Amino acid sequence: MESVYKEALSLDEQDELSAYRSKFISGKEKLIYLDGNSLGKLPAESKAILERSVNIEWGERLIRSWNEGWFTKNAELGDKIAQIAGASEGEVIITDTTSVNLYKLAHAALNFKMGRTRIVTDELNFPSDLYILQGLVKEFGEGYELIIVPSRDGMTIDTMDLKEAIVDNTALVSLSHVAFKSSFRYNMKEITSLVQDKGAMILWDLSHSIGAVPGELNESNADLAVGCTYKYLNGGPGSPAFLYVRKDLQDKLSSPIWGWFGDKNPFDFELNYRPGEGIKRFLTGTPPILSLKTIEPTLDMMNEISMERIRKKSVSQSDFLIRIAEKFLYPLGFQTGSPMDPEKRGSHLSLRHPEAYRICKALIDPDLGETVVIPDFRDPDNIRFGITPLYTAYTELFIAVREIRSIVEDKLFLKYSLKREQVT
Ligand SMILES: Cc1ncc(COP(=O)(O)O)c(C=O)c1O
Repeated sequence: MESVYKEALSLDEQDELSAYRSKFISGKEKLIYLDGNSLGKLPAESKAILERSVNIEWGERLIRSWNEGWFTKNAELGDKIAQIAGASEGEVIITDTTSVNLYKLAHAALNFKMGRTRIVTDELNFPSDLYILQGLVKEFGEGYELIIVPSRDGMTIDTMDLKEAIVDNTALVSLSHVAFKSSFRYNMKEITSLVQDKGAMILWDLSHSIGAVPGELNESNADLAVGCTYKYLNGGPGSPAFLYVRKDLQDKLSSPIWGWFGDKNPFDFELNYRPGEGIKRFLTGTPPILSLKTIEPTLDMMNEISMERIRKKSVSQSDFLIRIAEKFLYPLGFQTGSPMDPEKRGSHLSLRHPEAYRICKALIDPDLGETVVIPDFRDPDNIRFGITPLYTAYTELFIAVREIRSIVEDKLFLKYSLKREQVT
């Protein structure tokens, strides 16, 4: 193992993004954080912004702050997300949660494609997305159906299976660009054109791909997209989500929730709703300013570095992790839970083991070993490792694998309960 550790040290020395690590807050504990694909770390600048926003903007400026930058912040940051997502100015805005945005855009698409009654998704999609689509089938009523394309291997979706499900009657195809469990990534261009050839609309959930892979929304001519900001964008717990609507579609679609922020001018207090201009018509109510402002530092870092360079490091770190897992963990019963081809993957990796849950418990136990390692667990047997190039080091990946090896070899996981925590 010694030579691999030396290799990790040398890779860290050569890492051209290593300076960004210090831009994130670390506590006193010796911690290796590999869950940035679920809840990103806190950027020091976000903490400073939060303090300033609370103490000065809220504490002193109070209501005046709305005209001193708050009112336009969701559109401004939407434009910064657009750069990362491969979209254009005025096509992305921050609002609501991912689930609510998915509802709004899927509803708008179904209305736009009235007469077509099929919605297509797949079984690797995030449950909240499936629930919302199920709810829409119920809401739109008779004749509407949701087709959930199965996965043949539990890890990927075969394009032919998806193609078969998209028939002439299909109104909407709603997919996660990167699957939350296996990290399987669709070819956005290929699938978008496949969907549009059938006259249907595509709605991408970018929650696991925004800030993880270079965006391709315009390049693929995608219709609609949603995504969250608390994973790779480090906005903090529950930070508001974003939505994207292609420019030429914005005036043709209508949000099902006619909130006052979606009106042409909320402060006219008109009694009758008039859809706002462009992307703004998809807003609902007052944006959560404090948790919105914390997203900006990561967007600035990503736009300064470029998504291509971030992706380059992500692929290199994933390859390193796969290589050392094959060497040190596969002999102990681990298997891959993610596609091996980086073109078919996001920025997290799943490793599968029958004792995955208890191994995770052991890894995060501060009383075991000197380093706490935080990945996460996804049923039934996946340990997910989030690779976040802004702050993940090669040596951290090495130490995580070394810790897992000793937990499994010495059967240290046996002392932990199989009872699931509320949040895994
Ligand atoms: C792919 C995906 N879609 C949707 C959601 C739900 O997001 P929200 O809680 O913001 O509605 C999540 C949450 O983790 C997710 O990973």
